[in-house]
Amino acid sequence: MTQIAAARMVATPGLGERLVERGAMLLAARQPADAIALLERAAQLADAPGNTKGLLAEALLETGRIEQALDAADQAIALAPSDAPLLMLRSRIQRALKNSTRALDDAAAAVMVAPGGVETRRWFADCLSEISRHDEAIFLLGQLLEERPEDPQRAAWLGLALLRGDRYEAAEELLGHVAERGAETRGIRLLRVQFAIQHGQPQRAVELAQDALWNRGPDSPLYAALGHAQLLLGQRGEAALAYAEASRLAPADGYLAHIAAALSGGGGGARAGDDYVRQLFDRYAARFETSLLGLGYRVPGLVLRVLEELEPRIAAGESGLGDVLDLGCGTGLAGIMLRDAASGQLVGVDLSASMIEAARSKGLYDELHVAEVGAYLAQEERGYSCIVAADVFCYFGAIGETVAACGRHLLPGGRLIFTVESGACSGGWELAQSMRYRHSEAYIRQVLAEAGLVPEVFRQEVLRHERGEPVDGLLVVGRTA
Ligand SMILES: C[S@@+](CC[C@H](N)C(=O)[O-])C[C@H]1O[C@@H](n2cnc3c(N)ncnc32)[C@H](O)[C@@H]1O
Repeated sequence: MTQIAAARMVATPGLGERLVERGAMLLAARQPADAIALLERAAQLADAPGNTKGLLAEALLETGRIEQALDAADQAIALAPSDAPLLMLRSRIQRALKNSTRALDDAAAAVMVAPGGVETRRWFADCLSEISRHDEAIFLLGQLLEERPEDPQRAAWLGLALLRGDRYEAAEELLGHVAERGAETRGIRLLRVQFAIQHGQPQRAVELAQDALWNRGPDSPLYAALGHAQLLLGQRGEAALAYAEASRLAPADGYLAHIAAALSGGGGGARAGDDYVRQLFDRYAARFETSLLGLGYRVPGLVLRVLEELEPRIAAGESGLGDVLDLGCGTGLAGIMLRDAASGQLVGVDLSASMIEAARSKGLYDELHVAEVGAYLAQEERGYSCIVAADVFCYFGAIGETVAACGRHLLPGGRLIFTVESGACSGGWELAQSMRYRHSEAYIRQVLAEAGLVPEVFRQEVLRHERGEPVDGLLVVGRTA
């Protein structure tokens, strides 16, 4: 081989290097799936450059393959333990895996390696906020701003940390300046609107949202936040328009569709969509019990009382109810009432994983399932002595199929106990502006008859209070003939 040919061989990049170069370009061009194919091939080759695994981890994260991304990042960091961008990347992956403490550890390691880095320190502060260490986050971001007080981006970071740390007034002042300097992003404006709502300033929220929509054009989350604030101000007509617009801009969002339908008086679907129920109760789970107790929620107590009336053994403190199915069990408030009565299994079903977690923590149920009621009944093979749906059918309009399915799962002499919010709805049921459904007495009687259930108890009750007003409902017990 001539000297020139030998030099050319050294200078020409090998296959591994070329694949990685191309993979990096695809990643930069936001084509992570294509990048993965090349980077995985490169990783098999002996001449793969040192950054192959890091790029692969990034591409995997982009495509949502988070566990694999973590694996690749671990391998990359094993080769380069003091590489700040790699540590930051693994921190982002940990965050995506909801490992907030590990995310913080990696962010801290990145800051130690690159103490002057702006992005590393900002991300570290973000990780601190994530685990509610707000004071430290605010301090760090304050330092960053002090280094360059004229930088609106740094002011926005600090403003957001102040918002998250509940320093509402200080945050508003700072973010107001950021907005004046034209550096406010849509995301920041949305947060300002949401925080104004949370801090009891719906009028301010409306102004902020309207201003942003006017200046920056249509945006579904901003319209939804505007609608929320208008509802708080009692401006139902305006809120209906805002939610309709939010829903039109995000047609796949079942949560918005349900609220828009309720506010427009358009009747709504046959039941609230799974998305709506999940989102509502996942968000609500942590506050559910204190909030409902504050509203004088009576349904679980009504269920126990009617059982005691019908079954003297239970009134005497004995069990003997057999297997009990608690549909839409939520955090398990009805389960507290049912546990001692159920001599067999107590099974709970709910669409919201967060509500189920809260129910699990009570240790009352033998089984808990995250599932839609109808889907659960369709695959359930067991029969039950008692099925309860406490304050659940207010998320259903048409309940005929579900009640019939319950009827098929009741053992002879078994009972279905449920509540509905009552109203003189001409079509049997209607979606009210409360976003919940109401049912007429005639409709419930018809549904029971079609399911082959005899109405054993049919009683007007106050279910809870809302804004000081009683919410009227029906407590119903249907028994197999
Ligand atoms: C108002 S809470 C009542 C919870 C509980 N039964 C109680 O009395 O405390 C209504 C529950 O029904 C659940 N839910 C509503 N529609 C559902 C459906 N189609 N399938 C499963 N769960 C549903 C919600 O997730 C929520 O936890």
